[in-house]
Amino acid sequence: HINLFIMAGGVGSRFWPKSRNAFPKQFIDILGTGDSLLQLTYNRFKDYINNDNIHIVTNQDYKQLVHEQLPNLTVKNIICEPSRNNTAPCIAYSAFKLLKKDPNAIMIIVPSDHLILKESAYLNIIQDAVNHAMKSNVLVTLGISPTRPDTGYGYIQYDASDNEKLHLVKAFHEKPQLELAIKYIEEPDFLWNAGMFIWKAADIIEAFRLYSPDIYKLFDSGFEYYNTDNEEEFINNNYPNSPNVSIDYAVIEKATNVYTIPADIGWSDLGTWNSLYEISDKDNNNNVLIGTNKYEINNSNGCIISASAEKLVIIDGLDDYIIVDDDNVLLIHKKNREQEIKTIVNSFKDKG
Ligand code: GDD
Ligand code: MG
Repeated sequence: HINLFIMAGGVGSRFWPKSRNAFPKQFIDILGTGDSLLQLTYNRFKDYINNDNIHIVTNQDYKQLVHEQLPNLTVKNIICEPSRNNTAPCIAYSAFKLLKKDPNAIMIIVPSDHLILKESAYLNIIQDAVNHAMKSNVLVTLGISPTRPDTGYGYIQYDASDNEKLHLVKAFHEKPQLELAIKYIEEPDFLWNAGMFIWKAADIIEAFRLYSPDIYKLFDSGFEYYNTDNEEEFINNNYPNSPNVSIDYAVIEKATNVYTIPADIGWSDLGTWNSLYEISDKDNNNNVLIGTNKYEINNSNGCIISASAEKLVIIDGLDDYIIVDDDNVLLIHKKNREQEIKTIVNSFKDKG
C-alpha cells in the first residue's frame, strides 16, 4: 500500500548556473559523494520500499536522465509531465494514477534535492507519519526547526499544546515576506515545511476537490485512462492546461486537516547557494571553495566560490559573495540577495 513519489521535475533556478534547464541540480553530484541528489534520495528508501512502489515524477525531458541514474526502476515508474506546472498538478496526477491502482494506497512524497544526515531518525518519522495517515484522514508534513528568516520556505504554525508527536497545523504561510519570516522565527511554535508529505491518495484528492477544484476536475476527467494505453495522450492534451501552482499554495495553506511532525533529521534544502554554504566546511575566513584547488583568496570573507578544478581563482576584497564559474556563465552575486537569482534567470528566455 505504501508508495514513494520522488518529485524531480524542478529546474532549481536559485542554484543557477550549476543547475540548468537541461541538467537541473537533482541530477548533479553537488556534494561530491559520487551520487546525484536524486540517487541519494532513492538510496534512502530503497531498502524500505519495493522498487515497484517507487515512482519518480519528472518532466518528460528528464526521462532518459532518470532512467540512466536509477536503472533499477522500470520506465513505467517514471511518471512524465509534458509541461512545467509546479508541484500541485504533479501530485494530483500521481495521486489519481495511484488511487486507480489501489484505493487505499498511502503516498510518501519527497523532493529530490534535500540532504538528510540522520537517516534512521528520518525513516522512523516517516513510518510514524504513515501510521497516522493509515488510520485517519490526515495530511502530514514534516516540520524543521527554523534557523534563519529564509523567505524561500513554507512556515508552519502548529498546536504545541498536546504531547503528541503529531501536531495540528494552525496556519501555514508559504514563502512569506522577510518581515513576517523574522517574526515567525522568534515564535516557539513555528517550523519550516520540509516539503515532504504523507497521506492517503484518496485524502489528497479530496483536498484538491475542496480547495483546488480546477486541478481536481482536470485530473478526475482522465480517470478512465490512467494506467492504460490512452493515458499518455490524455496527459499530453490536458496536463499543460492545469493551473501552474505549488501544492503549498493550492492545498496546504487552505486545508484544515494538515498535521506536522517536528523532525530533527539533519535536514538541509540544497535549494540555494546559501544552503550549500551553510553545510560546507569553511576556510579560516569562512569562505567555502567548491571544485577548484588552485586559488589565492585574500581579504575576503564569507564567500562561496565554485569553479572547475583546472581553473586558477584569484579574489581580493570581496565579502559575502556567491562566485560561480561554470562553462559559459560567470555569476558574481551578493549572498544575502540570492532569492533574486531565480528572478534574473527566469527573465532570460534561453537560459540553457
Ligand atoms: N515533477 C515535478 N514537476 N517536480 C517538480 C516540479 C514540477 O513541475 N516543480 C518542482 N518540482 C520538484 C523539485 O525538483 C523539488 O524536488 C520539489 O519538487 C520542490 O520544488 P521546489 O521548487 O524546490 O520548491 P521550493 O523549495 O520552492 O518550496 C517547497 O519546498 C520547501 C522546502 O524545501 C515548499 O514545499 C516549501 O513550503 C518548503 O519549505
Ligand atoms: Mg526546493
